[in-house]
Amino acid sequence: MLNGHKRRDKRNDCYPSNANLAVRPPGTIPKFVDELPIPKVLKPVSRGGDYDYYEVEMKCARHKFHRDLGEAVVYGYNGMYPGPTIEAMKGRTVMVKWINNLPLKHFLPVDKTLDSAIDSPEVRTVVHLHGANVAPDSDGHPDAWFTRNYGIRGPKYSRQVYEYPNQQQATTLWYHDHAMGVTRLNLYAGLAGFYLLHDFHEQCLNLPKGKYDIPLMIQDKTFREDGSLFYPPNPTPSANPSVVRAFIGNTMVVNGKVWPYLNVEPRKYRFRMLNASNTNGFTFKLKDEDSNLHPFWQIGTDGGMIEESKPIEKFPLDPAERLDVIIDFSNLAGKTITLRTEELDLAGNRETFKEEVMQFRVGHKCKGVCDDDIVLPMKLRAFEELDPDMLDPKPKVRRFVMTEDLDKQGRLMLTINHKDFRDPATELPEYDSIEVWELANPVFVPGRPLGIPPNITHPIHLHLAQFQVLNRQEFNVNNFNTKQWIQDGTGIQFVSEEAEAPDPSELGWKDTVRVEPGKVTRIVVPFKNYTGEYVWHCHILEHEDHEMMRPLIIVERNCE
Ligand code: C2O
Ligand code: CU
Ligand code: CU
Repeated sequence: MLNGHKRRDKRNDCYPSNANLAVRPPGTIPKFVDELPIPKVLKPVSRGGDYDYYEVEMKCARHKFHRDLGEAVVYGYNGMYPGPTIEAMKGRTVMVKWINNLPLKHFLPVDKTLDSAIDSPEVRTVVHLHGANVAPDSDGHPDAWFTRNYGIRGPKYSRQVYEYPNQQQATTLWYHDHAMGVTRLNLYAGLAGFYLLHDFHEQCLNLPKGKYDIPLMIQDKTFREDGSLFYPPNPTPSANPSVVRAFIGNTMVVNGKVWPYLNVEPRKYRFRMLNASNTNGFTFKLKDEDSNLHPFWQIGTDGGMIEESKPIEKFPLDPAERLDVIIDFSNLAGKTITLRTEELDLAGNRETFKEEVMQFRVGHKCKGVCDDDIVLPMKLRAFEELDPDMLDPKPKVRRFVMTEDLDKQGRLMLTINHKDFRDPATELPEYDSIEVWELANPVFVPGRPLGIPPNITHPIHLHLAQFQVLNRQEFNVNNFNTKQWIQDGTGIQFVSEEAEAPDPSELGWKDTVRVEPGKVTRIVVPFKNYTGEYVWHCHILEHEDHEMMRPLIIVERNCE
């Protein structure tokens, strides 16, 4: 009883004291006054011969985003934000019992008119390990949600303990909430964490390890005057609150702190950069106080290591994408390096506040040996490029269009081939087959900068699969015939015969790809490992919750 009381009291704490306070102007929040937090590594509850067993409890907590901001209510895995980091080793199974001990009522504005929200409890959760090769019943299907103590369960719910076999190469994965219709709110509330998968090959490479290997979860957020999280309720004539088409925050948050700094030694570090924002894509670069650019040495993409490390000056990173880099501070003793973005805001103005993300302050001495012995460039791992023309059998080609429709409330809704999540599955690739997907985004006003509506890039993510980006090709959106193109590939006029090569930073295994406006983006996808029901969707969480998501069902192979 006593325990029950204690818990109830704590839950009363799960709401901001004044949800009507004004938004805090970002200019009143000083930059680079808080040190970058590094999420703690989670300890298993028990270890078996070939597995580690963990328990993670989702609960509400108070979190300080900045020295000058009051405490905010957040939802955290084990009450932490970001969640604790899970370190895994290839070939050794990780089991996690995901426990929901959150309240029943959400502290952020839930849109109850969304299809999946109408009869559903407000606070429902399901955990997805993004980028992981797992069986469908541990993948965190958006309808496999559950409420506190598994009290109410969604139609696809099947188990409490998820199993991650870790049969894929070392890479940066992340776990986050995936409950249909409330993912954007649960993630914004704090339900996201890192899952770092290692393997022997990676361990034999001379890469920065331990405290020199740091994950960076980058997000944009907006706060109220008292430091609580602000998410727009966006009332519309038909829904209050109502889902928004985009959420753009006015500050940059890394590992849970607004505009932090990190003291580094003059040596090489590995950073696993993740864009965990709701909507915002960024292009990142590094500059010192004299505006000199410094390169990142890329070593990996979403799905693992690239063939050889390479210097890149800047790179785009949309929601859910990861980039694994080494930053070499060895010749920068005493300098301050700032991680910067170069975006425009939705009105096309320079994003003055969000141009800076975090600061690296390079010390004069190393704690240990400065000579880290790491020579760049470095050979990393064999990589086999998939060329669809060389494949036997010829890959099946599927064509998709990022479309616009109206929902039952008459609101604009983004769909794929005019289908939403509740339409019957159309993507049923065969187990052990390779397909080419062509994703056209015809919502485009030529001449307008990228990122300024309607020129929005959709970061499209496939569960289970890791794929390769083939190319992008610009087409004339004015005489584009959606229906014809989907049917037989005609009805499209390309601006140029030549397709553009992927950005250098996307050459490697990917699970999320930027489907840019005015272009067809082509990927080549092997479907293997499991059969069963998964999903694929836009990773702009506001689009995903509003059903820019489709079933993905891997079916048994047909034997002729
Ligand atoms: Cu990171 Cu289906 O999600
Ligand atoms: Cu995923
Ligand atoms: Cu989208």
